[in-house]
Amino acid sequence: FWSNVQMGPPDVILGVTEAFKKDKSPKKVNLGVGAYRDDNNKPYILPSVRQAEEIIFKKCLNHEYAPIGGDATYANLVAKLGLGDNSLAIKEKRNVTIQTLSGTGALRVGFEFIANHYSHSKEIWLPAPTWGNHPQICNMLRIPHKKYRYYDPRTHGFDLQGCCEDICSIPPGSIILLHACAHNPTGVDPKPEEWQTLSEVIKEKKLLPFFDMAYQGFATGNVDNDAFAVRLFEKDGHQLMLAQSFAKNMGLYGERVGALSFVCADQDTAANIMSQVKILIRTLYSNPAINGSRIVTEILSNPELRAQWLCDVKEMADRIINMRKKLREGIERRGNKLKWQHITDQIGMFCYTGLKPDQVARITKDFHIYLTKDGRISVAGISSSNVDYVAEAIHKVTSS
Ligand code: LMR
Repeated sequence: FWSNVQMGPPDVILGVTEAFKKDKSPKKVNLGVGAYRDDNNKPYILPSVRQAEEIIFKKCLNHEYAPIGGDATYANLVAKLGLGDNSLAIKEKRNVTIQTLSGTGALRVGFEFIANHYSHSKEIWLPAPTWGNHPQICNMLRIPHKKYRYYDPRTHGFDLQGCCEDICSIPPGSIILLHACAHNPTGVDPKPEEWQTLSEVIKEKKLLPFFDMAYQGFATGNVDNDAFAVRLFEKDGHQLMLAQSFAKNMGLYGERVGALSFVCADQDTAANIMSQVKILIRTLYSNPAINGSRIVTEILSNPELRAQWLCDVKEMADRIINMRKKLREGIERRGNKLKWQHITDQIGMFCYTGLKPDQVARITKDFHIYLTKDGRISVAGISSSNVDYVAEAIHKVTSS
């Protein structure tokens, strides 16, 4: 029955982890997937999450089904975390927020909703470059996707001019995907005044902004600062979509907990959208898992736990900043001829090193250091014990 099925390629990101696991070398380092590690290179369970789990355990809760769109208390808390306590859309009940299977689930439900219910231009415009799964989700749903200029390899920075020029040629009504903060893979975000310009141009071109906010807290160490762009767009009167994830900022990777929001023009539209989203979800996975959302709800609703969580996020963000400094110092100390300032200029979990595919292949083969082919490294995988080794390896492969 299945003889026609061909071998597919490994995933561009998760395939790197698969290759890393097979490597027997004691020197191996995984800088592929964006998963936070502590300074001992171990997965990190946030103290706020641990405390929340203990509280939840003591409540002896049952395992009944969640509603199709997830728990309403969770949805309200998460919407406020993204859109802000002063969000007009929330106050006017113009938002639809549902629990999803992390950020990917939010994108998949959101894009599928677009495929089924969006009556304008169904093109999705993605930044160049973007997270490898964005185009894949579009492909799976047969939604056309195109690229707009975002990253300038000459400056290692944001290409505002190129970005605005490209946005001006996007057909009205199309969807523009924006990384809300800590752009993946480049670690380059627009500055606040650049976001303002983007908001104006996107509004003028009548595009639907779809924010992917998988790293709230990782850009600046502060969840409110990192939501600046989303909140600005809402304040500027955009209707928008928002994907959120608690994989990174609560370390709840395997819990698959996130959210999808729509900011609509009015309450009636919001009610219609909610009804259709429920129909969509019912056919996909019926209703979401309950454990992760309980943890998020406990943390966001309990003032002490919430304060602890904000410290936990800051601690993770600060460790990454520290590793960026050490990595840059380590490469420069060896007298490397290239410029490495972008390592410390870029923000969030990733550094877009500028390593070429052949250098990536060499650093993996000779040094057992694993990263994606585009030269992205997850700085979260660097620790005090391996930073020097990684610096040496980068120096070596860029010097010969
Ligand atoms: C990444 O970009 O490494 C993360 O978002 C993990 C993933 O699922 O790709």
